[in-house]
Amino acid sequence: MGSGILMLLLIAALLNQATPQPNVSFGDLYTPMSDSAHTRVLGGGSTVELLLDRASSGTCGSWGTYLFGTFSIGVRAVPGNSAGTVTAFYLQSSTASDIDQHDEIDFELLGRISPRDPYILQTNIYVNGTGRREQRMALWFDPSTDYHYFSLQWSRDLIVFYVDYVPIRVFRNNAALGVPYPDYNPMRAYASLWDGSIWATVDGNMRVHPVNWADAPFVASFADFDLHTACNATTTTQQAACERDGGGNRTKQSLDLNDISNLSNIHSRYIVYDYCSDTMRPDYPAIECANNRYD
Ligand SMILES: *[C@@H]1O[C@H](CO)[C@@H](O)[C@H](O)[C@H]1NC(C)=O
Ligand SMILES: *[C@@H]1O[C@H](CO)[C@@H](O)[C@H](O)[C@H]1NC(C)=O
Ligand SMILES: *[C@@H]1O[C@H](CO)[C@@H](O)[C@H](O)[C@H]1NC(C)=O
Ligand SMILES: *[C@@H]1O[C@H](CO)[C@@H](O)[C@H](O)[C@H]1NC(C)=O
Ligand SMILES: *[C@@H]1O[C@H](CO)[C@@H](O)[C@H](O)[C@H]1NC(C)=O
Repeated sequence: MGSGILMLLLIAALLNQATPQPNVSFGDLYTPMSDSAHTRVLGGGSTVELLLDRASSGTCGSWGTYLFGTFSIGVRAVPGNSAGTVTAFYLQSSTASDIDQHDEIDFELLGRISPRDPYILQTNIYVNGTGRREQRMALWFDPSTDYHYFSLQWSRDLIVFYVDYVPIRVFRNNAALGVPYPDYNPMRAYASLWDGSIWATVDGNMRVHPVNWADAPFVASFADFDLHTACNATTTTQQAACERDGGGNRTKQSLDLNDISNLSNIHSRYIVYDYCSDTMRPDYPAIECANNRYD
């Protein structure tokens, strides 16, 4: 009997950790923010395809705003020559009036020239309008052939980025050191596919590769929409409750040895750019870097 219960608990823990919320329809959580030709909702809301062509691009955003919690989505990135495209899943605060003081937490898949090249994942964090905290890694799988999971755990204490439930980056609250931290603005979750021709794809010779419009339309697909442990802060009453909550019971509180081993492995094998190692930056090394590293 004991082992049966243990097994159930184990299965529950695994499910909690590694499977998306079942059966959630796109429209329950998100709404298209571009025309239906560039945001195609398929399978009764089980997937959404975002398209990019010369005329326009696809974006969708969550109905609600959230302050802390876990945010997850399945992404199948643009196949073939995707140079210049950016497939993104991100949280962003802001209304038109505070765009220069906005907060943002980003996953951006930067297109590649050939399917033989690895896909580069860029992550970044903006606080009060200031970003420039880019980290880029070469993914250890091809994200254009199947869905892979991109998740964020955001609490008052730390932000953890996950790829296929493997932690890849940590950004701690270093407000005590004077480093701004996003812990007051509710954010909306967004998925988008857009034209990053002027910067997204750079080859070994530092040449920028724009979108090849002859290959348009480009299509990225999203599925397994999961915001069930994100703290809904859509109304001011809800926002106050999320602030009290702090997100701690909606996210993993601390990193275990497995997580640290993953972070260290990723840092040594897959990182191709890290703002923390960029000696050309005027603020090198950024104050928070020492507290966010695993190598
Ligand atoms: C998922 O939704 C479909 C259609 O609404 C329903 O028939 C099915 O039973 C649901 N499955 C689960 C696991 O909830
Ligand atoms: C955000 O930055 C502006 C200056 O751009 C500053 O006036 C404001 O106090 C900052 N807000 C917070 C919450 O730090
Ligand atoms: C979030 O809260 C708003 C306002 O109470 C509500 O309308 C909405 O359905 C909630 N969203 C989810 C996904 O629960
Ligand atoms: C988290 O804690 C808050 C306040 O302590 C509580 O109201 C809320 O229900 C908890 N949420 C979860 C998902 O356990
Ligand atoms: C993450 O850790 C798990 C368990 O130790 C391991 O099986 C997996 O290969 C690691 N993944 C990466 C990308 O380092």
